[in-house]
Amino acid sequence: MRIQIIPMTIERLPQVAALEQACFPADPWSEGVFREALANPRVSVLLALGEDGGLLGYAVLSVMLDEGNLDNIAVAPQARRQGVADALLSALTGFGRGHLAALTLEVRASNAPAIALYGKHGFAAVGRRKNYYSAPREDAILMTLEFEHGITTAG
Ligand SMILES: CC(C)(COP(=O)(O)OP(=O)(O)OC[C@H]1O[C@@H](n2cnc3c(N)ncnc32)[C@H](O)[C@@H]1OP(=O)(O)O)[C@@H](O)C(=O)NCCC(=O)NCCS
Repeated sequence: MRIQIIPMTIERLPQVAALEQACFPADPWSEGVFREALANPRVSVLLALGEDGGLLGYAVLSVMLDEGNLDNIAVAPQARRQGVADALLSALTGFGRGHLAALTLEVRASNAPAIALYGKHGFAAVGRRKNYYSAPREDAILMTLEFEHGITTAG
């Protein structure tokens, strides 16, 4: 499948919020949260589109100094296991390799597909936050990917 990765634009807001609802029905981010992410210069929202321009998935990265946090990633149920999340994460880790010291994330302890995805892209489990999630209550696994080079500053 050919997958195009592009920055999110405001016109995609309803589609992204609908996909979020489908992927995280118990506790979805609202449209307002995505709107704020779009307006925040520290946050990047990437979309994965199929050949017909349809939305396949998205990923949200926030950056503080030289550390990035993967805040969210999801792929439409009918588009899973075809490399969409791989394409999104490759774009983010490529950016990280050039600009960041590390990428971090939290993931539900029972989310085996996501943990496998992050492991494939070089993330290592570095800790656990007890009862971090609600609905249902569950621990988070903290994962980190460190890069050799941190941010470079001019002058
Ligand atoms: C996790 C998720 C984003 C993976 O998306 P995807 O597009 O299906 O993943 P890909 O096809 O790119 O797979 C990449 C790698 O992820 C892992 N993976 C993905 N789905 C998996 C599954 N069901 N079981 C085991 N490993 C899986 C594998 O390592 C896979 O590499 P491989 O194909 O070489 O084995 C998707 O299942 C999803 O949206 N889940 C619901 C939302 C969610 O849990 N997000 C993460 C929150 S922390």
